[in-house]
Amino acid sequence: MSFRATVLTLYPDMFPGHLGHSLAGRALERGDVSIEAVNIRDFATDRHRSVDDTPAGGGAGMVIRPDVLATAIDAVSPRDDSRPRLLMSPRGRPLTQARVRELAEGPGAVIVCGRFEGVDQRVIEARDLEEVSIGDYVLSGGEPAALTLLDAVIRVLPGVMGNAQSGTQESFETGQLEHPHYTRPQVFEDREIPAVLTSGNHKAIEAWREAESLRLTRARRPDLLEPDETP
Ligand code: ADE
Repeated sequence: MSFRATVLTLYPDMFPGHLGHSLAGRALERGDVSIEAVNIRDFATDRHRSVDDTPAGGGAGMVIRPDVLATAIDAVSPRDDSRPRLLMSPRGRPLTQARVRELAEGPGAVIVCGRFEGVDQRVIEARDLEEVSIGDYVLSGGEPAALTLLDAVIRVLPGVMGNAQSGTQESFETGQLEHPHYTRPQVFEDREIPAVLTSGNHKAIEAWREAESLRLTRARRPDLLEPDETP
C-alpha cells in the first residue's frame, strides 16, 4: 500500500521541494508515496479569483474564505475518503513521532496549508480539520510545515529506510536524545574519538552511549524524562 498525500496550498510550486531528493525522492520514484499539490486559488469563484478577505471584527491581515477552501477540500477528498485532513497551524497540537508513525500506517493525508492570518473557523469545524503545529514559532505559511511533516512520515514508511533498525534507535523513538557520533579520522584538530568507541568492547560502547544519551537529555530536554503530565 502506498501513502497518498494531497496538499492544498496557494504555492503548489513549493512541492515536492526537498522531498524530490534523497531518501524521499527514491520513495516517490518507487511509488511508495505520492504528493499532489493543488492550488486553492483554482476553486475561487469571483473574477478576481480571491481566496481571502478581511477579518470579521477588524484587525490586521487576511483570512482564508471558508467557501473557497471547502470547495477545494471536497474536490480532492470526497466523503468516502478515509484519509485524515490536517491543517498546518501554529496553534495546532504539536506534531510528535507517535503521530508521525500513525499517519505513516494509514492511507495518506489531505494537508491544508494556511496563509495570511489564518483560516475561517467554520471550515475547520465543518470539514473536521485536525490542526497540527511543528513547533512553537510562527512561519509565514503552512508549506514548510507540511514539507516537514511529510519528510518525517516518508522516512518511516515500510521499505524507505535502508536499515530496519536505524529508525527506532533515534531520539523520540527511545524517549531520549541520541548520543554523539564519530567517524574517521581518528584525530581531528587535536580532538580524538573517545577511546571506548574504538575499544571493540561492545558492552562498554553500549553503556557509554546510554550514559551520553541520558546526560544530553537531562541538559537539553529534561521534559522528555519527566512522567507525562499532559491531560
Ligand atoms: N504555520 C505557521 N506556523 C506554523 C507552525 N509552527 N506549525 C505549523 N504550521 C504553521
